[in-house]
Amino acid sequence: MKYDVKQFTLEQKLRFLEGKDGWRLYDADGALPETFVADGPNGLRKVENGTTVPATAMPNISSLSYTWNPELAFLDGATIADDCIDNKVSVLLAPGVNIKRTPLCGRNFEYVSEDPYLAGVLGKAYIEGVQSKGVGTSLKHFCANNREYDRCYQSSEVDERTLREIYLPAFEIAVQAKPWTVMCSYNPINGIWASEHEQLLNGVLRQEFGYDGLIVSDWGAVHDAPRCVKATLDLGMGNAPAFEALKAAYDSGELTEAEIDARVEKVLALIEKAATADKKVTTTKEQRHENAVTIAKEAIVLLKNEDGVLPLQGGELLFVGSHGHKTPVGGGGSALVVTDYQIPALYTLVQESLKGKANVSVPASARISQQMQSLSHLNLAYARAHDADTVVLCIGNNEKVESEGFDRTSLRLSREHEDVILNLAKANKNLVVVLYAGSAVDMSPWIDKVKAVVLAGFAGEGVNEALADILTGKVCPSGKITETFPLRLEDTPTGTTRGNGFYERYTEGVLVGYRWYDTKGMEVLFPFGHGLSYAEFEYSDLQIKKESETDYEVSFTVKNLSKTDAKEISQVYVSDVCAMVERPVKELKGFAKTALKAGESKRVSVKLDYRSFAYYSVALKKWHIENGAFEILVGSSSRDIRLTGKIDIQLPKAEQFTLPF
Ligand code: GLC
Repeated sequence: MKYDVKQFTLEQKLRFLEGKDGWRLYDADGALPETFVADGPNGLRKVENGTTVPATAMPNISSLSYTWNPELAFLDGATIADDCIDNKVSVLLAPGVNIKRTPLCGRNFEYVSEDPYLAGVLGKAYIEGVQSKGVGTSLKHFCANNREYDRCYQSSEVDERTLREIYLPAFEIAVQAKPWTVMCSYNPINGIWASEHEQLLNGVLRQEFGYDGLIVSDWGAVHDAPRCVKATLDLGMGNAPAFEALKAAYDSGELTEAEIDARVEKVLALIEKAATADKKVTTTKEQRHENAVTIAKEAIVLLKNEDGVLPLQGGELLFVGSHGHKTPVGGGGSALVVTDYQIPALYTLVQESLKGKANVSVPASARISQQMQSLSHLNLAYARAHDADTVVLCIGNNEKVESEGFDRTSLRLSREHEDVILNLAKANKNLVVVLYAGSAVDMSPWIDKVKAVVLAGFAGEGVNEALADILTGKVCPSGKITETFPLRLEDTPTGTTRGNGFYERYTEGVLVGYRWYDTKGMEVLFPFGHGLSYAEFEYSDLQIKKESETDYEVSFTVKNLSKTDAKEISQVYVSDVCAMVERPVKELKGFAKTALKAGESKRVSVKLDYRSFAYYSVALKKWHIENGAFEILVGSSSRDIRLTGKIDIQLPKAEQFTLPF
């Protein structure tokens, strides 16, 4: 340790426990280097003298997750880290791995998935990417912060098993990357503020998960600084000054010097890490943009493609909708990046790509602004739509619709947007909807009226370059959604409920996302893990190799049956055939992404271990496998299961506590 806690006075030590200001740690009046922290998950958002410095707007984490590609998650983090180093930011306040319990949550664009395993694996890779450059991260928001409504006060009332199986595993997996910091959430969990939740911060995160870094509060999440210190929160940021309260607690004996020193040592360790880490910028601004495009190309999801209307073949192409040239780079709030990159209009990129094959036009009046001009204003577009071979409508949400600080109240697009889709569909049956959105959208009023839907997501400043390559077939779409798109809000586990301002009971338990819809046997619009390709894939030859009673290697062959090079995301789910506790009908426990040239076959292998089969037993206070049969489901999505196998686990009787089956 370069900085010894003993070298500081009590007053200095207490000042280390809170920020010097909104973005800097205390530096002992200049005796220590300055340590600057800044958001956020989708790119650097550094606020300086009231303005946000421009940075590369990377794909939002939700779009990044649609790649199912840990290597791209690493690249994403490493790219943002270069912007951090250029702007002297030592810790990036990202990634967010909160589970998408309701598609209404305003910050879903910032989060990874409804599945904890996927969220953990991609969150871990992202952290490794950022920290590979000598920049720290802040894994957030710990924990059970699953909506924006009343996020600072409403308690998440979650039973122990649901916490362990759904809301903690993403953190448990991601802390293996040793994030420099973990950020606690605003909300209470079961009635105790996250910032002073000793059982979760110290008991679970530090003792059980082995986390030995710094725990920082969300901005303004400290309510009782002395109690936070006792709960092992190290640093309160964005709060009212806590010095007096801490000094009084020390003077009264409520806080001991040892308790204070233990927290200050974490802060000093962070300052030292930030000051001594080997920081290496390896990309130019142009290369960061190219990385954003590279990731976006795998983040875009082809949700529907009827009659092969995509890829575009040329002819008369009419582009409508302002999203294609006033393109949103992400959702609103602390994660919104300001880029100075001039995002090219999608139609100009397609025009360029199909030069000589297509006549691409975009009637001026067809530029549907986000404010949605009156429909009559679009008459020219409807008139022109009749004459086009294909109409491409660029539409969706933006930072005013999906944002930190509030939840959506509906999953649908605005009434005007829906009317535009329906009117254009009447005018031309070959309607392609390019949807810019950071979370699930209810498309039920119009999905059957359009030939194709391409989910552009909030894929950052490179989204239109990626879209142009996908729409014209230069790139084969490979993205797959990591949250269920339900048919309607009422089908979701939380429906239109949102708690009562004091608490929200997580009554659905472990049945979150596809775990809910699949266990209940409900129809959905697009299932978890869904995404089409221009290629077709054949799965065959499933082998399940037993390496121990609870360790297995699942292998299978995937063949690209088409004439186009492609990538396929294969998913491996586990189903406990018969259990003495309620278990989801299937759970994602492995995945692999395979690049396949036209006609190529490859062998794919995924490992399963104890935790792939176990549930958390509140009776035994540990993860537990009940003996018996388990199904292994290999799918192209959670509802497109291609291969099924079965194993039987027989652990020693001494470890079994249920009726003999
Ligand atoms: C915000 C967000 C958190 C962000 C922090 C700093 O309230 O909850 O994610 O990193 O404050 O902006």
